[in-house]
Amino acid sequence: MKAINMSSVPTYTSPNSMVLVCTEKPDGTTNMATLAWWTIASTNPGKIMFSINKGAYTLELLAEKKEVVIAVPSVELTAALIGCGTCSGRDTDKIAKVGLTMQDIEGTAIKAPVPCKLLIHATVVNTMDADDHVVHLCDVKGVYGDDDADAVFGWNGYSEFASAQKK
Ligand SMILES: Cc1cc2nc3c(=O)[nH]c(=O)nc-3n(C[C@H](O)[C@H](O)[C@H](O)COP(=O)(O)O)c2cc1C
Repeated sequence: MKAINMSSVPTYTSPNSMVLVCTEKPDGTTNMATLAWWTIASTNPGKIMFSINKGAYTLELLAEKKEVVIAVPSVELTAALIGCGTCSGRDTDKIAKVGLTMQDIEGTAIKAPVPCKLLIHATVVNTMDADDHVVHLCDVKGVYGDDDADAVFGWNGYSEFASAQKK
């Protein structure tokens, strides 16, 4: 083995799960941020965790409403991972920019893009400072899956996106 930098770690864990963190803007529309650093934290009761950088508009929206939908996009939404991860919802309507069709989710005003493999509706119950990021612990309120959808993953770190069937 050889010593490597922390920034290289994602290339060693590829393929990496990729999600869109969907939150509600003050005008009621949905913002989305691309995110790789998330995981299940508990199954009974359901809890998830994710880490948001301190420059993200998503951080402000979560502090305000404490509600989120974690969307695992299908491969058809590969372009959305770039589109929602390279600009801010502060000054951009990402739904219009990427050209997404959105779907309603039971029990929340937050919408999610179509098509997705998995949707997790959750509320923020705790946060923890992690220097340049803030870790969020959330209670899961509802989970929705599509068995036929093919989830998109980050490969070679996050330099390319494809399904996990890639060899
Ligand atoms: C492939 C990819 C993965 C990303 N993963 C994360 C992540 O895990 N955590 C994070 O805070 N930002 C991550 N980002 C950056 C955010 O998506 C980016 O800061 C985004 O502009 C935030 O949007 P917002 O300002 O509308 O919240 C990632 C971006 C890309 C392209």
